[in-house]
Amino acid sequence: MSDQNIAKKKAGEYAATLIEPGMTIGIGTGSTVYFFIQALAKKIQEGLIIKGVPTSKQTQELATELNIPLVDLNNVDQLDITVDGADEIDPQLQLIKGGGGALLQEKIVAAASKRMIVIADESKYVQTLGKFPLPVEVIDFGWKHTMKHLQQLGCERIVLRKKDDKIFVSDHGHYILDCYFQQIKDAAQLHHQINNIAGVAENGLFINIATSAVIAYKDGSIKEIN
Ligand code: 5RP
Repeated sequence: MSDQNIAKKKAGEYAATLIEPGMTIGIGTGSTVYFFIQALAKKIQEGLIIKGVPTSKQTQELATELNIPLVDLNNVDQLDITVDGADEIDPQLQLIKGGGGALLQEKIVAAASKRMIVIADESKYVQTLGKFPLPVEVIDFGWKHTMKHLQQLGCERIVLRKKDDKIFVSDHGHYILDCYFQQIKDAAQLHHQINNIAGVAENGLFINIATSAVIAYKDGSIKEIN
């Protein structure tokens, strides 16, 4: 296993220790959360009773395969905690998410949670957001017009996400535009401006949503940021 994957595993396993009996939890998406899900499934096998709300079809399938009990978000008042990954995390716990294309459902689930813990290896921790292209989920109808409006916000380049040479379609039937800003100076303002554009379903900036981050380093240490 690569050093990066060892760190992701460490962060995922650490987050699993924070899950207490009786909790209803949001279960994120991605390669770091994969390790969390594996550790959680093991705890459930050993007797832990929890209910989970998945943030994507991918997570739903993996959780079902591993016998993690799932519940519909509409049947839950509030989630105790959501554990999810991120593509970038800054010192104020502002995030870029959506590298895996699940940002819309991830944000709905995180917004329904009392706490959101972000798990990541050290490569995700940055001083300023923006090097990672910001994913913006858009309605397919007239997407080129939505893209023109996004370009006016100072984006250097925008790429329509593709997978296996076909347009990538999100779990909710939308397209993803990856926006290369390089440096996002005011993430809260940009978040607001993007979500005001007609045709935008959601963008990958998570502002004032994460309550802590667990960053795992190659030397084996873990740092918690609150
Ligand atoms: C999916 C996400 C993921 O959490 C993010 O892309 C991080 O993934 P990974 O842990 O595989 O690096 O936002 O939409």
